[in-house]
Amino acid sequence: YGEGSQKIDYVFKIVLIGDSAVGKSQILSRFARNEFSLDSKATIGVEFQTRTLVIQHKSVKAQIWDTAGQERYRAVTSAYYRGAVGAMLVYDITKRQTFDHIPRWLEELRSHADKNIVIILIGNKTDLEDQRAVPTEDAKEFAQQEGLFFLETSALEATNVEDAFMTVLTEIF
Ligand code: GTP
Ligand code: MG
Repeated sequence: YGEGSQKIDYVFKIVLIGDSAVGKSQILSRFARNEFSLDSKATIGVEFQTRTLVIQHKSVKAQIWDTAGQERYRAVTSAYYRGAVGAMLVYDITKRQTFDHIPRWLEELRSHADKNIVIILIGNKTDLEDQRAVPTEDAKEFAQQEGLFFLETSALEATNVEDAFMTVLTEIF
């Protein structure tokens, strides 16, 4: 049982990964509390938040784990991935480097997580379209090759954040 007397049918662990400052914590904050902060601090260690939703008449508790993109602040990797059934691989559409690092994150994910984990590639900060450095087509093609879902989001404008989580949650389901 979760919040109040609500019955929980499933608990799904989802992990967020990607370079520092791509917006992982703000995507989570938008999804879990519908909040956004422009002066978000770098995550140290591991944090998590939950949100309970109803999917196909079942109540699903999404337990979303968020860690530091910065190597020096990262916690033990294997514990972070343990039991995760979904992963969100995030880059910043205005920072090419954060997209170029995606194969490395994917490698880490594939070497530590369950092989059936559902993965979505997320290009965040679409509100900064005038500073775009990663064409949508490049990311779409990469996602297709690697068998990942793909969406572009803006945590600031709340664009596609809900959709990104729902894509992962319904696929796990
Ligand atoms: P680490 O914890 O260091 O790994 O970083 P992070 O990926 O959690 O980044 P965080 O969510 O802290 O966001 C970094 C910066 O980007 C903050 O200043 C956020 O306000 C900003 N930011 C996050 N999402 C968006 C977005 O969709 N649009 C814009 N314009 N800024 C964003
Ligand atoms: Mg963070």
